[in-house]
Amino acid sequence: MSTDSSVQHNQLSTGPGERAVRVEEILRSLPEVDESTPLAVQLAEDTRRRVSLQGLQFPHPDRTRIITVANQKGGVGKTTSTVNLAAALAQGGLSVLVIDSDPQGNASTALGVDHRAGIPSVYDVLVNEEPLSYAITQCPDLENLLVVPATIDLSGAEIELVSLVSRETRLRRAVDEYVLEREQAGLPRLDYILVDCPPSLGLLTLNAFVTGREVLIPIQCEYYALEGLSQLLKTITMIQQHLNPELHVSTILLTMFDARTNLAQQVAQEVRDHFGEQTLETTIPRSVRISEAPSYGQSVVTYEPTSTGALAYRQAAYELAVRN
Ligand SMILES: Nc1ncnc2c1ncn2[C@@H]1O[C@H](COP(=O)(O)OP(=O)(O)OP(=O)(O)O)[C@@H](O)[C@H]1O
Ligand SMILES: [Mg+2]
Repeated sequence: MSTDSSVQHNQLSTGPGERAVRVEEILRSLPEVDESTPLAVQLAEDTRRRVSLQGLQFPHPDRTRIITVANQKGGVGKTTSTVNLAAALAQGGLSVLVIDSDPQGNASTALGVDHRAGIPSVYDVLVNEEPLSYAITQCPDLENLLVVPATIDLSGAEIELVSLVSRETRLRRAVDEYVLEREQAGLPRLDYILVDCPPSLGLLTLNAFVTGREVLIPIQCEYYALEGLSQLLKTITMIQQHLNPELHVSTILLTMFDARTNLAQQVAQEVRDHFGEQTLETTIPRSVRISEAPSYGQSVVTYEPTSTGALAYRQAAYELAVRN
């Protein structure tokens, strides 16, 4: 079942047409799987994914896609999905910026960037009206992945913003100006900007909704998954009507999916029944590798690229890029 990745890589580092033929050949050469053994099925799925994703260049979107990753429910996989999709898109050859808009700073930790109190961060952009470039830093693991970190200073921003002018549109203005600034400086266009939100519908999330053109909602496959979703959708509709007509829910990602439980299957089915078009086919399994990667200051995609969890995020990122 296991395949030599360096051999595969050499076989796959050719032009796109030839590459597709080689991938087909390798996939056809894989042995038949005993469907009655879940582990064998999983290994076969991972091998298929590894072969088809190896060295794959993702398509560039026509314009910068700005995606807000939100769900006011806590711990559903917003941050994990933001950093891993971003890392996978960057690994696929795209130019990506992550904006950490959560005072917890989890996305900054997971991408290995400094976020001690006082360093240039999204707080300075929102409250002090600094340009986005003031706070941008480089993810140490991936050359084409930029990060605007969040520090603990951001925890005061919800209150500080209340009395400031244009409090809902501050991030949007900074992002739009930065995109223009890059264009004028002749820098390559950003393909993706992903904004990670805190678990609330306060001013930080509102700013992220006004900035994004798309919303990606991670949904954890558990009993309470759909509770609170109608409030989230109402808020998005309100923003769309009053502040950002382009905003729409483009993507739903099922996270922490455990195929062995009926409950996870039922929740996934219910989400697909309601949001068939938006829900990615790829689901993210519950995986120890995914949860331990942040403690190494890494996304799972760079920490353990061939693990089941990393392959799932890489596949989900490819699906996101292709669906454009
Ligand atoms: N697929 C997964 N498998 C195992 N653990 C996961 C997975 N996805 C996320 N986790 C873990 O679940 C916890 C919550 O995930 P995460 O921080 O991404 O959620 P969140 O929605 O951003 O949370 P918050 O609302 O606090 O911002 C983390 O400890 C994370 O490591
Ligand atoms: Mg988070």
